[in-house]
Amino acid sequence: MLVTGGAGFIGSHTCVELLDHGYELIVVDDYSNSTPQVLARVERIAGRFVGAVYELDIRDRRALSAVFDRHSVDAVVHFAAHKAVGESTRMPIEYYDTNVGGTTALLRTMHDHGVHQLVFSSSCSIYGDAGHGPLDEATPARPTSPYAASKWVCEQILADVCHRCPEYTVLCLRYFNPAGAHPSGLLGEDPRGAPDNLMPYVAQVAVGRRPRLPVFGDDYPTPDGTAIRDYLHVMDTVEAHRVALDHLADGPGMRVYNLGVGKGSSVLDVVAAFSEACGRPIPYEVAPRRPGDATELVADATAVARAWGWHPTRNLADMCRDAWRFQQLNPSGYAGSARRPNTKD
Ligand code: UD1
Repeated sequence: MLVTGGAGFIGSHTCVELLDHGYELIVVDDYSNSTPQVLARVERIAGRFVGAVYELDIRDRRALSAVFDRHSVDAVVHFAAHKAVGESTRMPIEYYDTNVGGTTALLRTMHDHGVHQLVFSSSCSIYGDAGHGPLDEATPARPTSPYAASKWVCEQILADVCHRCPEYTVLCLRYFNPAGAHPSGLLGEDPRGAPDNLMPYVAQVAVGRRPRLPVFGDDYPTPDGTAIRDYLHVMDTVEAHRVALDHLADGPGMRVYNLGVGKGSSVLDVVAAFSEACGRPIPYEVAPRRPGDATELVADATAVARAWGWHPTRNLADMCRDAWRFQQLNPSGYAGSARRPNTKD
């Protein structure tokens, strides 16, 4: 199994889950928003070696092709991408190049090597500001940022490839808001620079790395005025990927599923839950709305439950508890911990 972006937040937790279930992994990552230390942690938790690890940019077809030449790849789980919505509005070409160009480079390489099975990491952001209530997979796509548009373009490319080439099987998983950390406290979310996402920002405030959380807008039409999201524990997210791999061969073509809990939490709900988890109040101040943010994004996740019997089992309190454990044990993230060497050519 090839995992692209395997050192990232969801990728690294997926590696643990797959190693725990007996998979042999080949990981590629360019460490642009992660570090090689992560994979040493993955191996420590799993008690097994990853297999092979290559530092490469997913757009580098020659390097990617060499990995496929060297290893027998049966399927690919593709996480490698840029993922900051705000940054994508300032650097749209970078986002299209890496997220769309990276996906087509991967597809080209898979095609050249006769590999036709892919799990693609998509996003609820493709729904845009779709309004109130749970969103199912038939909700029309209305991406409002280059990040979201890049994911939607990839989905359309993959759908067309599956339509024209019956040998392909693709599962697109549209994540709502993955958060939390591995329960060991060894693995979590450690973005470079100031976190874009809510949960790692709150965790860094709790541990004293940042003075207070900016709450982006308290004038949304929601009960407490702050925006609502569907937070999904990263361990539930990665279990869904493992179940997806069990069902990859169920049939040809492309299938699309939302991954969420189906329950909305406001920014202030997250602040309250995290305060409870860490035993101290999280200082915050209300700031202007963040451009491009939707009022409410909550999943209708019944399709995946019907198809595979998969349900998330963890709640917001579990996410905060685990994110807090990781942040407490790693106040400066992965900095300074042991590295895992790359596989040599
Ligand atoms: C976004 C994408 C999601 C993507 C994820 C990856 C949308 C709608 N969703 O999630 O698909 O996978 O990024 O990065 O584009 N907030 C604060 N203060 C902060 C940070 C965030 O108040 O310092 C608020 C945001 O305004 C938002 C909520 O917290 O209302 C969640 O934000 P965030 O964690 O960044 O996730 P999304 O923007 O929902």
